[in-house]
Amino acid sequence: MPSPQKCRDVARTVPLPLLRVCIVAVAHETLQFLLTNHVGAFVTNRTTRFVVLNSYANGTALSESHFSLESKILAPLAEGEVLLQTLALSPDPYMRGRMTGVENFFLPQFELRVPLVGFGVARILESRNPAYPVGQIVHGSIEWAQMCNWGANLYVASLGSLELLDPQIKPLRRALDVLGITGLTAYFGALEVARPRRGETMLISGAAGSIGSIVGQIAKIRGARVIGLAGSDQKCAVLKEQLGFDTALNYRSASLERQLRELMPTGPDIYFDNVGGALTQMVMWQMQRPARVIECGQISTYDQDGGGWTLDIRPIHGQGLSWEGFTPVQFQEFFPAALAQLRFWLRSGKVIALETVIDGFENAPRSLAGLFRGDNLGKMLLHVAD
Ligand SMILES: NC(=O)c1ccc[n+]([C@@H]2O[C@H](COP(=O)([O-])OP(=O)(O)OC[C@H]3O[C@@H](n4cnc5c(N)ncnc54)[C@H](OP(=O)(O)O)[C@@H]3O)[C@@H](O)[C@H]2O)c1
Repeated sequence: MPSPQKCRDVARTVPLPLLRVCIVAVAHETLQFLLTNHVGAFVTNRTTRFVVLNSYANGTALSESHFSLESKILAPLAEGEVLLQTLALSPDPYMRGRMTGVENFFLPQFELRVPLVGFGVARILESRNPAYPVGQIVHGSIEWAQMCNWGANLYVASLGSLELLDPQIKPLRRALDVLGITGLTAYFGALEVARPRRGETMLISGAAGSIGSIVGQIAKIRGARVIGLAGSDQKCAVLKEQLGFDTALNYRSASLERQLRELMPTGPDIYFDNVGGALTQMVMWQMQRPARVIECGQISTYDQDGGGWTLDIRPIHGQGLSWEGFTPVQFQEFFPAALAQLRFWLRSGKVIALETVIDGFENAPRSLAGLFRGDNLGKMLLHVAD
């Protein structure tokens, strides 16, 4: 903005018509300054791109073809709304349960051709809500869009609200993995539900994924012997060489059943299951009492008709196993303490954040479909903007 002194200098030297232009310029910039102080910098180009589901995927593999990128012009903010610029998005397996078109999931089905909603990190560009100041970085459930107007309509009760991000969290995307809901799921799943003890053997399926990789590292901190199951030799090597797993096996190997019996003749003491399906069924038949199955998820079944979650419980009966499911929401009041512990482990290098970052909003469909093909090592993340 031109300063008053600069305008006085100009006034002495320039002809009258030009001086009028200068005064108009100062007035315009002053007005804009006052307004931007109130609601933030005006975003003149309000065109945004967003991801929609264009058909439900029930009983079939999820692929890029189930999604489209569309665009729209955002309306001016209503009272209470904020304009968000998306920085990073979290493709998560639970989103698959909202893509079958069958109302049997704990969250409602996504509507077709409207923006998807999921966990993300965003910057506030404009605000008509005093709780969310302009320039703040926030995290929570937001639209899968480059920009969106966030308001009450985007609030999904079981996903929580939009929260200001602790500026000490660097990089910001950590709030979507170790210091976010997957880190909390791993923390409570490992320490409050599985409770591995020194000398016990814990087998983890989906071990090279977001939750599995963190659970394994926590179980090692607790002194357990940790064996991971993952979908490639390269993933197994990372688990052993970088994360300190005692061993890791490629579950696609034809000799897996024999390898598991050799390693654990009476099965693991704890089986932390992220995968379900045939793999879990085989592991459970090998387990002998007293042993416990911790049911975190069944991703290998989500493409089945009706969204999966089919498990033959005969081994639980026949082998006298204990079986326990959980969600981190059960432990919500302890989130701050858990996050402080996870942050300490990250800082001290006791927990390493494994991540696969896909760059560019146009790759959003690939980041979602890729999660169910095993494209990720550690947490799958979509980087949208800096
Ligand atoms: N209990 C809860 O509250 C809670 C919260 C969040 C997530 N979850 C569940 O926890 C599990 C892991 O979630 P995450 O966010 O950490 O995802 P993730 O493990 O980071 O990513 C998914 C991984 O699953 C594996 N996978 C995909 N399809 C598979 C198949 N057909 N058979 C075997 N493995 C398959 C792939 O690894 P490979 O290459 O190794 O196959 C893939 O990388 C999921 O089942 C999810 O639904 C539960």
